[in-house]
Amino acid sequence: MSLLSVSGVSKRFGGIVANRGISFDVEPGELVGIIGPNGAGKSTLFEVITGFYRPDEGEVRLDGARLTGLSPDVVCRRGIARTFQKLRPFQGLTVLDNVMVGALTRTTDVRHARERARELVGKVGLAEKAEAHARTLSTGQRKRLELARGLATEPRVLLLDEVTGGVDQRTIPELVRLVRSLHAGGLTLLVIEHNMRVITAVAQRIVALHLGEVIADGPPDQVTRDRRVVEAYLGLAYVP
Ligand SMILES: Nc1ncnc2c1ncn2[C@@H]1O[C@H](COP(=O)(O)OP(=O)(O)O)[C@@H](O)[C@H]1O
Ligand SMILES: [Mg+2]
Repeated sequence: MSLLSVSGVSKRFGGIVANRGISFDVEPGELVGIIGPNGAGKSTLFEVITGFYRPDEGEVRLDGARLTGLSPDVVCRRGIARTFQKLRPFQGLTVLDNVMVGALTRTTDVRHARERARELVGKVGLAEKAEAHARTLSTGQRKRLELARGLATEPRVLLLDEVTGGVDQRTIPELVRLVRSLHAGGLTLLVIEHNMRVITAVAQRIVALHLGEVIADGPPDQVTRDRRVVEAYLGLAYVP
């Protein structure tokens, strides 16, 4: 059985069909990339998987159990964590406290939550910023913070929305290393990423969306050469 199963998911906003009959499965330990031009429906799909939006049709299952219809906090407890494209740390809290919020979804023991948070803050490379307020962080640092906060909820699947989006070029390799190390540690990841170089370097499989539909699903070298994918990117073809 697949770990995560998306089947026939459609989501409309008035006349806009953001997701149209999307189906794909994610196996345990896989790192699946989601690509597609702006407006393709990538973030909406994450909102549906995490219970922030209810799909008009279709459903999402984790290990065979239906997630659709559950609230975001219940979906999180079931084992799905996510980062946001528009970063949302608690600005007035320190880095450590932000991550503790995640850890406290798994334990009521504050001391244990703090230890776990400190460990994860170190893991994402923010140890020196542990006591800094979130609002003082750079975009790249805030991405790391969101990652640590997501990891603190002990997810079975971690969803990352545009990991390298908006961060300066120099910090991209570090973020890539971090994502790779999480995957190497056995975590299952679903990663939306605009940077083709990054996604082809980390993903084992890529699902390409265009106008809310899956237009390709397969190994990176195959998907990036797919005629419909190249056309959807209007000549912005990535040549490996
Ligand atoms: N809350 C919303 N209300 C209305 N339209 C939305 C909403 N969220 C997304 N959309 C529309 O759905 C489409 C897909 O958006 P989105 O999922 O954000 O795409 P992507 O993340 O691939 O850029 C776009 O046309 C977008 O304008
Ligand atoms: Mg998006």
